[in-house]
Amino acid sequence: MATPDLNAQPEPPGPASPVAERIAALRELLRVHAHRYYVLDEPTLPDSEYDKLFKELQGLEAACPELVTADSPTQRVGGKPLEQFVSVRHQVPMLSIRTETDTEPTGAQNFDNRVRRELGLSDSDPPIEYVAELKFDGLAMNLRYEQGVLVQAATRGDGEVGEDVTQNIRTINQIPLRLPASAPAVIEVRGEVYMRRADFEALNERQRERIAQGARGEKTFVNPRNAAAGAVRQLDPAIAAQRHLSFFAYGVGEITPPQAGGPVFATHYELLRTINSWGFPVAAQTRIAQGAPELIAFHEAIGRQRDRLPYDIDGVVYKVNSLALQNKLGFVTREPRWAVAHKFPAQEQLTTVLGIDVQVGRTGKLTPVARLAPVFVGGVTVTNATLHNEDEARRKDVRVGDTVIVRRAGDVIPEVVSVLPEKRTPGAPIFSMPGACPVCGSMVVREEGEADHRCGGGLFCPAQRKEAILHYAHRRAVEIEGLGEKLVDQLVDAGVVRVLPDIYRLGLNALAGLDRMAEKSASKLFQAIKQSRQTTLPRFVFGLGIRHVGEATAKALAHHFGTLDAIMEATQEQLLEVGDVGPVVAKSIRTFFEQPHNREVVEQLRACGVTWEEGEPAVTVTKPLSGKTFVITGTLPGMSRDEAKDRIEAAGGKVAGSVSKKTDYVVAGAEAGSKLVRAQSLGVTVIDEAALLTLLSR
Ligand code: IVH
Repeated sequence: MATPDLNAQPEPPGPASPVAERIAALRELLRVHAHRYYVLDEPTLPDSEYDKLFKELQGLEAACPELVTADSPTQRVGGKPLEQFVSVRHQVPMLSIRTETDTEPTGAQNFDNRVRRELGLSDSDPPIEYVAELKFDGLAMNLRYEQGVLVQAATRGDGEVGEDVTQNIRTINQIPLRLPASAPAVIEVRGEVYMRRADFEALNERQRERIAQGARGEKTFVNPRNAAAGAVRQLDPAIAAQRHLSFFAYGVGEITPPQAGGPVFATHYELLRTINSWGFPVAAQTRIAQGAPELIAFHEAIGRQRDRLPYDIDGVVYKVNSLALQNKLGFVTREPRWAVAHKFPAQEQLTTVLGIDVQVGRTGKLTPVARLAPVFVGGVTVTNATLHNEDEARRKDVRVGDTVIVRRAGDVIPEVVSVLPEKRTPGAPIFSMPGACPVCGSMVVREEGEADHRCGGGLFCPAQRKEAILHYAHRRAVEIEGLGEKLVDQLVDAGVVRVLPDIYRLGLNALAGLDRMAEKSASKLFQAIKQSRQTTLPRFVFGLGIRHVGEATAKALAHHFGTLDAIMEATQEQLLEVGDVGPVVAKSIRTFFEQPHNREVVEQLRACGVTWEEGEPAVTVTKPLSGKTFVITGTLPGMSRDEAKDRIEAAGGKVAGSVSKKTDYVVAGAEAGSKLVRAQSLGVTVIDEAALLTLLSR
């Protein structure tokens, strides 16, 4: 498919004032770069630069509202929420396609045979040329452009009358708001609005969070098609914009004026190439195919790729390429004789729930998983499906023995989408999370406002072993240089390390015996482990991996209590006296030290010789940077960012990762990026290293 070159597009009629000129230039630049980003997937401008240009345009348009046009990139999310949708009669009916449900190669052969028969061809005639496309699993859309401007987007409806959903469709970045001057005066581009799998997963994740936080009327979506349809039918375009829809073009509707004496294009492929050159995405897999053998090859090739595509397809579509032949073939009722959809195995199937297991992830998160009677879905046999969390399992009300619809699309883990309640065995109990971790028996907790249940045995639980060791060994925890992910995997998988203290029981021989471990590296690691025994209290506390206890909190705890025992014995109230600690954090610390297993691991670490200097409980003194929040960005001339962070914290300040209104100072070095821009736009004070040093020395 030709790559559209938006740079080559002619400028609209010459604007008058310098401001109008700048506005026109900005719009064009933004259009070019949005097209590269959203359609070609080849951005050539950093996001921050794009944002700058966008803000400049917004600023100019705010200053000169009379220059705002509907096709400006700033106007994608524009209108107010609607009361209801308005009906639209299609100028050219929107047809459907005959479906070949035979998922075997014979499906393509049947279609080719039919076309040849209807055209009166014999076996000795040459093969028919087809265009082979993907069959996207979304919803059909008609996009009407008049004088090059998108004026209306309508759903298919019953094929004759659809609904006007222009406001929502304008939010789709892949759909041009304006066409080049070479486009016909009136042109309707048709295609599929869909949702990428990643956008679908992210949307459902957000929905689950909202539901967990008690939002009313929110739900998760069954599949990307459903989610896309929901977004298209949103009355508020601002909500539709958050749902991130995508688009592929596959045809046209009305075109005026048609070229003198015949259709505008000679072939369907040429038509696709042209609309692609106007800025519409056309799937890169689209191919010309000669006769049935090449259709079959396409069906098979796409079938193999299907899982790896970032969106759902439910088959492929074959279309006769010559528009003259299409005309000759005509229609039966609402289906053209020149096209067919050739399906793939379904991505949703019925099966029964044999049991509900609870799995524990590396970070301690508990996930209910439905064990299923094996079922062939989306091309593989599925025996498990995630239920995400307790709320989700209850909302779907999945129970042992239930008949359920299972969905598997792409590499995404199979999912139970719904239950057939009429098939339920009477008396099947409602699912609930266990009170104790199924792996280690520690207490299971669910924090307020959180959807997930977690195992409280962070240091002990076998499911969390790898994560616990990695965290403990981290550069900013006790620091064991060289103990990274691969090594931890090996040590744990081989059963050499089961709990943290085992690290200190490793002999040089055991290390040297590991896969791909040279003698020199083994002795280096051995030294690093040895050295890590001498640490500091904040590093040790941080290294325990207590939920919500980051570096800053660990420092605050160490400073406040002075000794580990004091922290371990502190009551909820005492913990709350620490500046950095709120109720959620205090509870998390309590839960952690209430688990006998965790305490035992701590004791064993001490017995293995891990030590630090303990101090006195702090008398509160106000430090120079107490109560001030800093964000560091870019490269500072005289110190590393870690060093700057340590010094700010030592002076009582806090260092955050992102800039907000609550940030007091942004320390900017060379090549500072979006954080600096954000600081400037929020009016946060920006200082350099020299100014920071002055603050520190106060
Ligand atoms: S062409 C005359 N091409 O499948 C044919 N449709 O029933 C008009 N679809 O509602 C449609 N991918 O939403 C065509 N590459 C593709 C398609 C496609 C998906 C959808 C379309 C339509 C349905 C066909």
